[in-house]
Amino acid sequence: MTQFNDLVLTMRTDWNRRAELDAAHFICSEQGYQSLDDFFHSGERDVERYLVPHLRRLGLEPEMLRALDFGCGIGRLSAALARRFRAVTAFDISAAMLARGQALLAAADNITWVQGNGFDLSNLADASHDVIFSYLTLQHVPDARLAMHYVAEMCRVLSPGGVMCVQFSYRPLYALRRWYVTLRSRLTRLRWLWRWLAPRRWRRRRYGREEVMYMETLMQHSLPPQSVTRLVRAQGLIVEMLDTTDPAYIWLVARKPAHACAD
Ligand SMILES: C[S@@+](CC[C@H](N)C(=O)[O-])C[C@H]1O[C@@H](n2cnc3c(N)ncnc32)[C@H](O)[C@@H]1O
Repeated sequence: MTQFNDLVLTMRTDWNRRAELDAAHFICSEQGYQSLDDFFHSGERDVERYLVPHLRRLGLEPEMLRALDFGCGIGRLSAALARRFRAVTAFDISAAMLARGQALLAAADNITWVQGNGFDLSNLADASHDVIFSYLTLQHVPDARLAMHYVAEMCRVLSPGGVMCVQFSYRPLYALRRWYVTLRSRLTRLRWLWRWLAPRRWRRRRYGREEVMYMETLMQHSLPPQSVTRLVRAQGLIVEMLDTTDPAYIWLVARKPAHACAD
């Protein structure tokens, strides 16, 4: 854990700042939305598109089950999950995201909001969740070892017979963008000086948004699909589907056997 201490602090600080500036924008800026209603509607659409078909195919009845929303943000997907599942754990590293989500979804009494330590799922018990869903989160974890550790942890908290449906990215060339991101963030820091010295009327009011945009905690990072499937299989899960059609949005669906195989 100690080797990731700095990174954990950066992830938590950056996401807290994004939550305070404009949580919904930083959560799914590419999808575009006009209002908070639209924002939550997009969560409903994503759950219906990416999760529900697998539940149906596997014959799982959500109203009986407990779901984990890993990297829940302000509950865009948790809200849609809460309408279907018996109980939902909305899990995130950022206290500010969780607080906003909790306030927005106060009426959903089957959601438990849990803050993670940025490293593992140690505050969740083994086999405590029947379905794990994660979208637009693993791709932002800047260290592949940490992201893989989370995948192993998901296998641990998944109950026998349970299913995990997680999205990640694999665009190795995209790593080159790191140079661009570093340069942008340096320039942005210089602009702080400008902001400080310049007369008030010259200062850009929306400057803060840009500052938290060009950071490695918002870049897309790569996880090799073969490594993820190997890890999941090594944890005893059966890979039901690996969809690599869009390398930016790879989906892995894996199921834990109802009875652990003795080997
Ligand atoms: C782009 S948002 C996606 C939120 C949500 N999954 C959705 O689609 O609406 C990424 C979320 O992951 C959370 N996150 C980032 N790193 C994390 C970590 N190491 N552990 C838990 N959550 C993390 C951030 O705080 C943020 O809320």
